Amino acid sequence: MAWVRVWDMGSILVSNLDTQIQFHFPILMDFISKHGKTVEWTSKDLLRGLEEFVPIYETRPIKNNMYGMGFDHSFGLWFIARWLKPDLMIESGAFKGHSTWVLRQAMPDKPIVSLSPRHPEKYLKKGPAYVDGNCTYFAGKNFVDFGSLDWQSVIKKHGIEDLNRVLVFFDDHQNELKRLKQALKAGFRHLVFEDNYDTGTGDHYSFRQIFSIPEWNPMYFMAPGGGHSCFKDSDEARIRSRRKEFWEKAMDVEELCGPGETWWGVRGQMRDDFNHSNKVITYAEHIKNSRFVESVLDVYWELPPVAGPSLTHQTRYDPARASSPIVEDGRFGLFQRLGLNRLKASLHTSTMVYSHQNHHQEYH
Ligand SMILES: C[S@@+](CC[C@H](N)C(=O)[O-])C[C@H]1O[C@@H](n2cnc3c(N)ncnc32)[C@H](O)[C@@H]1O
Repeated sequence: MAWVRVWDMGSILVSNLDTQIQFHFPILMDFISKHGKTVEWTSKDLLRGLEEFVPIYETRPIKNNMYGMGFDHSFGLWFIARWLKPDLMIESGAFKGHSTWVLRQAMPDKPIVSLSPRHPEKYLKKGPAYVDGNCTYFAGKNFVDFGSLDWQSVIKKHGIEDLNRVLVFFDDHQNELKRLKQALKAGFRHLVFEDNYDTGTGDHYSFRQIFSIPEWNPMYFMAPGGGHSCFKDSDEARIRSRRKEFWEKAMDVEELCGPGETWWGVRGQMRDDFNHSNKVITYAEHIKNSRFVESVLDVYWELPPVAGPSLTHQTRYDPARASSPIVEDGRFGLFQRLGLNRLKASLHTSTMVYSHQNHHQEYH
């Protein structure tokens, strides 16, 4: 496709314990929309942001946020919110309120709207949680799903005239195609999704899964985007089984592919709502979905891992399935200077995506 650009035919040096293996992969570094746009920020901006954010993160009220956001995504959300400077921030999926706190750090005076079935204040009984004073909660008995809320009246109430001034953050494990259509219908443009699960993994249909179609990746294997091969003697199968030895979340082709060589989504399923619902979709439907998303997005940008695995010591996510880290392997001095060495390995994950919808589309 014309609007996907492969920036770099790179190689990744993976250090794991005493073993150093050099894998050669085509790495999809960035995605440029057919409108030719990408994000305004550069890796230098991200580095400067990290310098500022580490001390902020250390003051977080919820130190143990298991099942919620870790460091990388907190940084990504803070950075994007600070960059865009929205007049209104909306979040769907609050849990104990960590992401609400992150949004508040980015924009101290702007209102937040938070949707979550359980009110974050409920968690206060058991331990740390965050409830914001300038946030309208559709939570607990007032919970309304993002797709059912009367957004026009919420927008009006907050005096918003330009929907470009609104940032929407999803961390609610719902089908991202469904959320995209709902956001389009409401007219929102800036969307951030926390869990952009890789093909074959996760509990909901994600952008990364949706964008996984063969022609998006001229190399046709092992790059973010791209289609997959279920053929057991393929290069992909060989590389996958090797990488599984090092990365907990890596999958071999047997895990990747469902019955009848269905690799798209999760083994041919479009999952939704924490996988409480799922639907088998055909390859043609999957392609149709990617064409639709392609037609409505101006920008698709995946947050890179903050630092390479030899620095963070994370062993969960396969770095070959992410873009180049902000602090690259080998740059221990910088890693230390930024204070990243003070964070635990378990705080590092990398699956967040920012997207911007073009202005010409309306969806009903
Ligand atoms: C992974 S947690 C969110 C973590 C949180 N953003 C943080 O910073 O730690 C997912 C949350 O989504 C909530 N949830 C479930 N269904 C939802 C829905 N339909 N709309 C919004 N939130 C939902 C869950 O109750 C849970 O609080």
